[in-house]
Amino acid sequence: MSESHSVITIDGPAASGKSSIARLVAQRLGRTYVNTGNMYRAMTWAVLQTGIDPQDAEAVRAAAAGIVIDSPVVDGKTQVCIAGHALTDAELNSDPVNRAVSLIARVNEVRERLVADQRALVALGPLVMEGRDIGSVVFPDSPHKIYVDASAEVRASRRGAQGHADQIAERDRLDKQRKNSPLVIPAGATVIDNSHITLDQAVEQVIAALRLQ
Ligand code: DC
Repeated sequence: MSESHSVITIDGPAASGKSSIARLVAQRLGRTYVNTGNMYRAMTWAVLQTGIDPQDAEAVRAAAAGIVIDSPVVDGKTQVCIAGHALTDAELNSDPVNRAVSLIARVNEVRERLVADQRALVALGPLVMEGRDIGSVVFPDSPHKIYVDASAEVRASRRGAQGHADQIAERDRLDKQRKNSPLVIPAGATVIDNSHITLDQAVEQVIAALRLQ
């Protein structure tokens, strides 16, 4: 997988600050930023539109099979589009999506589809891609892996400040315990503790770590 050398992977739990860090690192390095959480959120939004129960894995599988996510690049960042509709931040971060996304993301067929879509994005050029399994599963051969962590208290207060009702402890539990591609620190990743540093300091730490890797 030689293309993986052009992907900087950034993984970490919900509200660890990895999205803000990844977006700024991509800007600094002139790379395209890919938020894979938004791909799982888009799939969740579309599955919920069908009215099925997100706990029903069989129904999720059937609904997901007909959903295609496009990822056009706008302002250096991939958008998520379904049937020509670019999903808004409000749609991607709605309460129903927050509640259901980890249930949808644990269905094997959903993961296989989205992992294949994510690997295909290397055609866009050098990437910074963030998520839960990017360094461990999607691009395990990348030499540029970062894992962003923060304490549970700091993460809960950050998400609260964003105004979202988000059960991050429950999402973390599901994301870490699922059988397929659980959230782990990828082999070879540099771990950054983002609990008590500024965004700028976190970005500097990532850039410094990438130079050493
Ligand atoms: O990064 P986020 O919190 O927006 O991600 C939303 C959910 O999507 C997360 O709870 C688990 C899932 N996800 C995943 O399973 N794998 C990824 N690479 C990214 C997100």
